Amino acid sequence: MELKPTPKPWIDAIHAYVPGRATASDGRPLVKLSANENPLGTSPAALAALEEARGEAASYPDPDSKALRAKIAEVHGLDADRIVCGTGSGELLHCVVQAFAGAGDEVLCSKYSFSLYPLLAQKVGAVPVFSDDADYAASVDNLLAATTPNTRLVLLDNPNNPVGSWLPASEVERLHFGLPSDVLLVIDHAYAEYLADGVDDGGFALAAAHENVLVSRTFSKAYGLASERVGWATGSPHLIDLINRLRGAFNVSRSGQRAALDALGDQDFVTASREHNAAERIRFAEAIAALGNHGLRAVPSEANFLLVLFEGDLTAETARDALAGAGYAVRHLPGHGLPQALRITIGKTEDMTRVTATLRELCGEAP
Ligand SMILES: Cc1ncc(COP(=O)(O)O)c(C=O)c1O
Repeated sequence: MELKPTPKPWIDAIHAYVPGRATASDGRPLVKLSANENPLGTSPAALAALEEARGEAASYPDPDSKALRAKIAEVHGLDADRIVCGTGSGELLHCVVQAFAGAGDEVLCSKYSFSLYPLLAQKVGAVPVFSDDADYAASVDNLLAATTPNTRLVLLDNPNNPVGSWLPASEVERLHFGLPSDVLLVIDHAYAEYLADGVDDGGFALAAAHENVLVSRTFSKAYGLASERVGWATGSPHLIDLINRLRGAFNVSRSGQRAALDALGDQDFVTASREHNAAERIRFAEAIAALGNHGLRAVPSEANFLLVLFEGDLTAETARDALAGAGYAVRHLPGHGLPQALRITIGKTEDMTRVTATLRELCGEAP
């Protein structure tokens, strides 16, 4: 038999990232409430920048995203030299896990966290370790208890995906304080723009003051630029230097840099996205609470989705299928240890009204 190239055993053992669905099992297109995208679309300013960038497709982008980093620094009051941009924040998370973890090392996260985290650990031969949750949310006590001499990184999505839970600054600080200084704490702010104005988990301050804290952000959510693949991270010069050595050379496209820069200049769009999300999330959470006698429960969320638990006769599978029948793709996460839950992105007002009506009808209530 002819020999064939053999992948490393830890690569062979991992599965590809499973994205949210956009079609029914019969191929019918569905309204996508399965990937936490922005239902308001993209800022008109960013769309105009994308249009302009079309004529520049033949040229390589700025490898250092200089103008974009300067604008990020201005908007967030940070030092541009302590910022690195990536092909989505996912690339940057990958780089730091690669920089600090390898075979035999442990990468720790809360039991219900972003599904990419264990894959990042497995890609480098490290072991993903999950700390117990506290009613689905991350628990600082449990994260600290799960830290061992082999722990190299702690990945904390705050707000969290898929739960939507959020740890306040006092808890994040307690987590950082309790970790050995040679463990890197990564605070993933993918959904931070959805927090109420002025609410802050203190991540930027920790990243500015300590060598072992990195904060990542993305343009994929509230900025409505998921397709352009732009993210960024801030931390000590040492961390930024490591990521710069590991990231792709021209990792953010010209169009991505231009669009993200102009999206930052249109904070009205971000505010409108946050306000729409807050209003519809409250309305949806109240609708789920009204179905509490049927075993439905929404975990409190600070993000642009709700994790709805089905703890009565109506199962998550039945609800997922009925919602698909009504034209909606939502995220069922049995592979994530959540067979009893659906993660439902907060969509347009009319879509949330129809989703609510579908769930009410399934429970035998008037829509
Ligand atoms: C918690 C969290 N972090 C990071 C990301 C990755 O975002 P991107 O690579 O698009 O910046 C996501 C995407 O869903 C997420 O949910």
